[in-house]
Parts: sequence; structure tokens; C-alpha cells
Amino acid sequence: MKAVTWQGKRDVRVEEVPDPTVQEPTDAVIRVTSTGLCGSDLHLYEVLTPFMTPGDILGHEPMGIVEEVGPGVPDLMVGDRVVVPFQIACGDCWMCLNSLPTQCETTQITGEGMGAALFGYTRLYGSVPGGQAEYLRVPQAQYGPIKVPEGPADDRFVYLSDVLPTAWQAVAYADVPPGGSVAVLGLGPIGDMACRVAQVKGAGRVFGVDLVPERLRRAKARGVETYDLRSFDNEKELVEAIRDETDGRGPDAVIDAVGTEAHGSAVAKLAQTAAAVLPRAVSGPFAERFSVDRLAALNMAIDLVRRGGTISLSGVYGGMADPLPMLTLFDKQIQLRMGQANVRRWSDEIIPYLTDEDPLGVDDFATHHVPLSEAPHAYEMFQKKQDGAVKVLMRP
Ligand SMILES: NC(=O)c1ccc[n+]([C@@H]2O[C@H](COP(=O)([O-])OP(=O)(O)OC[C@H]3O[C@@H](n4cnc5c(N)ncnc54)[C@H](O)[C@@H]3O)[C@@H](O)[C@H]2O)c1
Ligand SMILES: [Zn+2]
Ligand SMILES: [Zn+2]
Repeated sequence: MKAVTWQGKRDVRVEEVPDPTVQEPTDAVIRVTSTGLCGSDLHLYEVLTPFMTPGDILGHEPMGIVEEVGPGVPDLMVGDRVVVPFQIACGDCWMCLNSLPTQCETTQITGEGMGAALFGYTRLYGSVPGGQAEYLRVPQAQYGPIKVPEGPADDRFVYLSDVLPTAWQAVAYADVPPGGSVAVLGLGPIGDMACRVAQVKGAGRVFGVDLVPERLRRAKARGVETYDLRSFDNEKELVEAIRDETDGRGPDAVIDAVGTEAHGSAVAKLAQTAAAVLPRAVSGPFAERFSVDRLAALNMAIDLVRRGGTISLSGVYGGMADPLPMLTLFDKQIQLRMGQANVRRWSDEIIPYLTDEDPLGVDDFATHHVPLSEAPHAYEMFQKKQDGAVKVLMRP
């Protein structure tokens, strides 16, 4: 089959690889019909290079048709239409039973000290072949795959794999009081969807911050009060402008949907770039012990949120040596919640919103549909934010 493989920093290629097969009784194999490109894939494309191995199959946002099932997967049948969550979880351990499938004790990558295995996401998360491919082996298929009805196009359901539960968890963790205010930093797919979820869940005011014109326009068109980072002399001024709109206090909650590659963190960018070009044998341990994040967005969140408010981090962070302003966090009495989205924790709550009325606007959420063969171009376009790319779906 054809699959999108990681070959090096900013180098992905579509290659011919062996077809996956059922290996464990709890496996299924699906034929992928749509598969998303995520901001998380961009971290692999660049800063997480030390944790990748050439040939790794990328992707963690797939849906498709069940081709083959193991005997330990009673609820799936060949021909079922399913969306596959980005994490691999058993559904039956203490963590899964407590709604934390991203911490699944059956699939945790204990050798690396990490949580549940993820599709297509570095050796830290198990080096599991990912879903940007014609076929995908789905371990723990007795729990993960979400069956969806025939009829609507894939775009209706595919975001259940990641974007929707991630945005949903971001808003749930943000704990916005009814009618309260929330600022969303970053209006990529995750931040954009988090604004939409906050609106349908009853937030009074939703502020959105980014620096890419079409992303700001998209959010504004749906009633978000948008702020363009580039039209302020510095972040302090932007924070003041939003504070002025919230009785001088700042919003009740701030969602950071930017993560480790934030624009405006020059020193940390140098450190990340240095780690990504070191020889592999050195850069792995180096990255693990001395890694730093680009913290501009998180620092803005800490400054912006009102005293006693909540910061919810969806953006992925990976630093082990990050300096954080603990004095401010403590003094402002800030709640901080974060983590990979627990997909099956939220999926049943989300599905009722995936109707013809389409309150979350999923049907036209994607800006680009491309064949798998165009993956190298799609990665570059999405990373450089060219051609209005916000969400790219590949159709293998
Ligand atoms: N927690 C999870 O389960 C989960 C799931 C999916 C994605 N993510 C993470 O969420 C983040 C966003 O993902 P995405 O797909 O939307 O990616 P993306 O890269 O398209 O979005 C990031 C956005 O942040 C903007 N930005 C950069 N610096 C900024 C700054 N200082 N202030 C405000 N905005 C800034 C960028 O212009 C961009 O639009 C990534 O870090 C991704 O890894 C987490
Ligand atoms: Zn994703
Ligand atoms: Zn489990």
C-alpha cells in the first residue's frame, strides 16, 4: 500500500510499504477513506525530529471501512464505517474506566515513561504506524473505533478522531462559567473548533487570537471577537485590549491552542532548532533532558487570564526544562489543566451535534481535500500557512 512516511526534518514522502494485517485477536484493519493533517504532525515535521525514525508512517486522524477483524472484536463487522481515535486504549483498565484513555494502562509506553500509545507519533508514543495511509492496523479495536452511519460525507465525522474531542476537552477543562468569557490563543483547526464549541456550550464572549489573516477571518465570520497579534506593538498591549473588554480583569478562561512552536519565542526557537539538527544519537537524550518550549502563547495565557481563572492547554508541549513564572501562577490563583484529548470520554456527547443543521460547521471545515500522493506538498503548505490552508484532509 501507499503511506506517508517521515524521512527527516521537513521531509515526508509517499512510499510503498507492506499492507497491514490483523496480528492480535483485538486488531482490526481498516481501508482509510479520509485522514487529517494536524498541527501535531507539524511538530514531527520539525521540532520532534529527535524522536522520529526514518520510515515512520505518519497520521492519527483517520476514518474508513473495516476490512478485517480479529476474533476479539465482537462489535465490529467487515464493511462498518468507523472513525479511529488518535490514541490506542483498551477501554477496560483503571484509567480507561475512569475516562482517561490517553493514560490507558494497557498501552502506556512505560519504557519511555509516557501515557497511552498514539498512532503515528514518535517512539515516545510507541512508534505505531499511523493513519496517513491506504490501510491501517487498529490495535485494541474492541474499544477505539467509533461506528458512524452511512450517508453524509466523511467530513461530517472524521474530526471525531481528534479535532472535535480535543476542542471539546479544551472547553470542558476551561470551565467557563455560564455566560462567561474565554479567550482562545491560536486559531488553527483546534483553536477554531474550540471557539465553536465554546459558543454552542454557552460561553458569553469568545475572543480569538492569531496572526494569520484567513484564520482570523474564519473565526470572525462565526462571531468570535478576533485580535491580530501583528497589529499590536507587543503582547502586553494585546492583553490590555482584551482586559479592557472584560471589566479590566481578563477573561474567565484562556485556551492555549498554540503549543510548543509559538510565534514570538526567539531564544527557545534557537534551542529547538539546535536540537533538531544535532546528530540523532546526541539529539535524542539532549531533547529529553534539556528541551524547551516556545512559551510565548502560554506566557500570554498566564498574563491574560483573570485572577482565579482557568488556563486550558490543548497545544502540545514537550519541554523538560521550561522556566515558568510560578510567582504569577500562584499569586493569580490560576487553575491549569492540560493533556491529550480523551477521545472516547467525549465522543458520545459530540455525536448529537453532527447533524444536517451542522451547528459546529464541520461539513465545510476543511479548506483542502487532496490525494495521499500530494502529502509532501500538503505538509509544506500547512506548515507555511500558504494558500489559505487551515484544515487539510487527505483521501487515500
Ligand atoms: N491535546 C491534544 O489532544 C491535541 C490534539 C490535536 C492538536 N493538539 C495541539 O494543538 C495545537 C494546535 O493544533 P492545530 O492543528 O490547530 O495547529 P496549527 O499549527 O494550525 O495552529 C496553531 C495556530 O497558532 C497560531 N499562533 C502561533 N503563535 C501564536 C501566538 N504566539 N499567539 C497566538 N497564536 C499563535 C498559528 O498562527 C496557528 O494558526 C498544536 O500544538 C497541536 O499539537 C493537541
Ligand atoms: Zn491531530
Ligand atoms: Zn485502558
